[in-house]
Amino acid sequence: MSIRFDGQVAIVTGAGNGLGRSHALALAARGAKVVVNDLGGARDGAGASSEAAKAVVAEIVASGGEAIAHGANVAVMSEVEDMVKQAVDAWGRVDILVNNAGILRDKSFTKMSLDDFKLVMDVHLMGSVNCTKAVWDLMKEQQYGRIVMTTSSSGMYGNFGQANYGAAKMAVVGLMNTLGLEGAKYNVRVNSLAPTAATRMTEDLMPEEILAMLVPEAVTAGALLLCHDGAPSRHILCAGGGGYASSRIFETEGVYLDPSQQTPEAVAEHWDEICNTDRQAPLENGAKQSEKFLLKAQAFLQQNNA
Ligand code: NAI
Repeated sequence: MSIRFDGQVAIVTGAGNGLGRSHALALAARGAKVVVNDLGGARDGAGASSEAAKAVVAEIVASGGEAIAHGANVAVMSEVEDMVKQAVDAWGRVDILVNNAGILRDKSFTKMSLDDFKLVMDVHLMGSVNCTKAVWDLMKEQQYGRIVMTTSSSGMYGNFGQANYGAAKMAVVGLMNTLGLEGAKYNVRVNSLAPTAATRMTEDLMPEEILAMLVPEAVTAGALLLCHDGAPSRHILCAGGGGYASSRIFETEGVYLDPSQQTPEAVAEHWDEICNTDRQAPLENGAKQSEKFLLKAQAFLQQNNA
């Protein structure tokens, strides 16, 4: 299978550096017309500059591709709408959105100000919400869309000093879960990417020899599959250093406790059984959990009435 994007239009946010730059270059090299979005601020979100996005556009154009730069702050809806309008004015559609822009404001929760919490939520979560909202109806109308959220192992599993970042990164998975359901009948597929790569975001976190193995291009290989016609939906693809894995939320089978046992003491007594992973499974949607519990309750009632 050859993965191509000829005739398609992609928006990649935060594409002036790191992973976004790598995604944008690869999409363009495989035929997509690309909006290279970047606010151009520092790692903590301070400042702004159009230089980074323009440099990536110059690289794409020099290789014979088509791209436009846009300096929208993804946290500001009016700027995002302007970006989408420019894409549509230039090329008539948007097929692919990669929500990649991000910042860090790491501190232990004790020391973290609410402003640092809110800013990180604004860029990662609201940035993804704004960009997705701005292309959503368009994608539904054209019966085609591929949307990638950028999550993180920090959100899925936790990382000391990243309460804000982890919360925002898990929030985009929640967004994916529902939008994947709502987009399904319109051929709009929504997935998440959990990357590990050497970028300015991670440059001071690992030794140089390790960073050398974590090239952004290895992550981009996975990102491009999620951007493609043949993409799955509602999956979390983890990618880094040539490793690729899928992360899913499973629920244990659990137990049913009859009304006489619905006490904290009984829950404690059954803790091992509640946590037993032997029959764990992913659930298709939230209602499936209620269904599972109600079936157990019904079975109990039937047994008792029999
Ligand atoms: P990076 O700092 O190299 O790139 C992020 C880009 O986003 C920068 O060019 C920045 O100017 C841009 N940006 C920041 N705020 C913006 C805003 N409000 N509007 C538009 N653009 C904005 O970082 P990196 O590593 O390439 O990160 C890309 C994504 O991958 C982020 O969402 C990050 O959280 C995520 N990620 C990265 C990991 C890694 O190992 N590098 C690990 C897990 C997640």
